[in-house]
Amino acid sequence: MRIDVITLFPDFIAQCAAFGVTGRAGERGLLSLHGWNPRDYAEGNYRRVDERPFGGGPGMVMLIDPLRAAIEAARAADPVPAKVIYLTPQGAPLTQAKARELAARERVILLCGRYEGIDERLIEAEVDEELSIGDYVLSGGELAAAVVVDAVARLQEGALSDAESAEQDSFEGGVLDCPHYTRPVEHELGRVPDVLLSGNHADIARWRRKESLGRTWQRRPDLLDEAALTQADHKLLDE
Ligand code: ADE
Repeated sequence: MRIDVITLFPDFIAQCAAFGVTGRAGERGLLSLHGWNPRDYAEGNYRRVDERPFGGGPGMVMLIDPLRAAIEAARAADPVPAKVIYLTPQGAPLTQAKARELAARERVILLCGRYEGIDERLIEAEVDEELSIGDYVLSGGELAAAVVVDAVARLQEGALSDAESAEQDSFEGGVLDCPHYTRPVEHELGRVPDVLLSGNHADIARWRRKESLGRTWQRRPDLLDEAALTQADHKLLDE
């Protein structure tokens, strides 16, 4: 998959490709990440990328033309057509389902705003979708773009060392993950639950499912409305 990021801070995005699962996805040729700086497409000695808003008010608004030229340059770098996604607190919430949908695409272009925002005409003309990573305001879209890159990179086939671990993640089945334990069995902070030491795979699976459902019910009951629970799940929840 190819991800192009339009940002005033391409070095920030390049860091995503340097570490961890995202870095490995890059090394394995599963993800290619490219930064495009609108300032490189701005005119004049000062290479302005923003101006004061019409109608007054605080802050600056990003200019249409440098952004449009950067998007065009990104599009032209590869013949595969790309959806343009603008990161903004006004966007639809990023969910695991959305991450899966994006991960299945060959290419996306992520657009990061700074300052108070982007000239609305650029958004109307170029943006296909708006995404938010949560109900709080960041100073720019870069951290949000990094979140999208990470969520999407780890879903690329072959990106994770254990193919199972993405499937068992929180949210994958619409419920939260179960607790995990490792050595030692006995510790001053407590003992590992016996069932995990039993070697009985059916019992372990049942315990994990029950923990997942219980946690979801306690911490995120809103998720249970959407999760596709089986009759067996309902029984576990009732126990
Ligand atoms: N830009 C600023 N805040 C944001 C948020 N919460 N999500 C996505 N992009 C943003």
